[in-house]
Amino acid sequence: MLKGKHVVLGVTAGIAAYKACEVVSRLSKLGANIDVIMTQNATKLVAPLTFETLSKRPVVIDTFERIESWDVKHISLAQKADVMLVVPATANLMAKLASGIADDMLTTTLLATKAPIMLAPAMNTGMWTAEATQSNLAVLKDRGVLTVGPASGILACGDIGAGRMSEPIDIVEAVIKLLAARQDMQGKRVLVTAGPTVERIDPVRYMTNDSSGKMGYALAEAAQKRGAAVTLVSGPVHLPVPAGVTLVSITSTQDLYDAMMMHAANQDIIVQAAAPADYKVQQVADQKIKKQDGENLILKLVENPDVAKAVGKQKQPHQILVGFAAETQNIVANAQRKLQSKSLDMIVANDVTQEGAGFGVDTNIVTLITKDAVKPLEIMSKHEAANCIWDEAVALAGAPLLHPARV
Ligand code: CTP
Repeated sequence: MLKGKHVVLGVTAGIAAYKACEVVSRLSKLGANIDVIMTQNATKLVAPLTFETLSKRPVVIDTFERIESWDVKHISLAQKADVMLVVPATANLMAKLASGIADDMLTTTLLATKAPIMLAPAMNTGMWTAEATQSNLAVLKDRGVLTVGPASGILACGDIGAGRMSEPIDIVEAVIKLLAARQDMQGKRVLVTAGPTVERIDPVRYMTNDSSGKMGYALAEAAQKRGAAVTLVSGPVHLPVPAGVTLVSITSTQDLYDAMMMHAANQDIIVQAAAPADYKVQQVADQKIKKQDGENLILKLVENPDVAKAVGKQKQPHQILVGFAAETQNIVANAQRKLQSKSLDMIVANDVTQEGAGFGVDTNIVTLITKDAVKPLEIMSKHEAANCIWDEAVALAGAPLLHPARV
């Protein structure tokens, strides 16, 4: 996702410096080249060798150390960077940056760069809320410096409040959002389904499924950013529609079926992340059902169409169909069964009982299953997961992906 991108990562002497190791590791796995610059004090908290091993490059510390290459290090790094990230950014670093002080390798490089600067501040609540820090922050923001966090929580000093550094996963997510503007899906038409469906019982009651729509919306946003023409068929959710995406709103599973029958044939890749209700009430009451004291209420449910199966039946040779399987047990076996029965090319399985996966949260832990492979991915943001799913789907589609009618 970040192949060919150059991240210059500054590490200052906050206790959260150890978390920068995970940031480097994650960025490196996404294909980024990383140069780490540490302040002298930061080297007392984490050994440079850790960063050297994770980034596979020498760590830069001292402005005046003799180097084998002829380039002026702080200038060459400043020019090479696609982003300059500081993890953690202490109050001291923010103050120096705000006033243009350049007294070590990190601050000289920050002053010289034209690349976007992103800070992950971390400090004690009192230091964070101090007028000096807040006014430095305002100056930096005014100059276009980006920040991730800080979050609130229990701090290393025992205080509870704002100042806790954002989690590595969120910092990496912010870098992806900034840098991963690949256009490898240009010319492709993709359709994503998202959110739950709602089945009416009477004018004031309904049945639905757990689904925030976050995964589907992240998929739509990522595909649009990568250049695809995106149709998002969505059940009722509380999320903004990503810019440039065509929204088709649906309510019930029957609506979803109708929308898919209308739009599916035209697509190159279809990813069905919606959680459609499998059943609907046989007879929706015209009026509010009144409580019958002491009597149980029995609703007769009838099966809804299996939308993915119906789309699979009409699958065209050039199309790639991807489904989701939210499971609570026998994840891989259940997902493989769905892969086959719904004529899918890939199924994204997740164990919704795991912490960090499933409904409402911003992260997911998915396994990508195709006919020939089972690929478990680590916990990642839904945005990162979306890009991994597209990577796989685009690879399955092969290039070029052109609808026969448009050749
Ligand atoms: N799906 C669908 N229509 C349905 C139910 C599910 O299109 N009526 C799609 C979902 O969008 C998802 C895939 O099928 O891509 C798997 O959904 P899931 O709810 O996990 O599977 P079901 O087939 O409903 O099986 P079960 O509920 O028994 O696990």
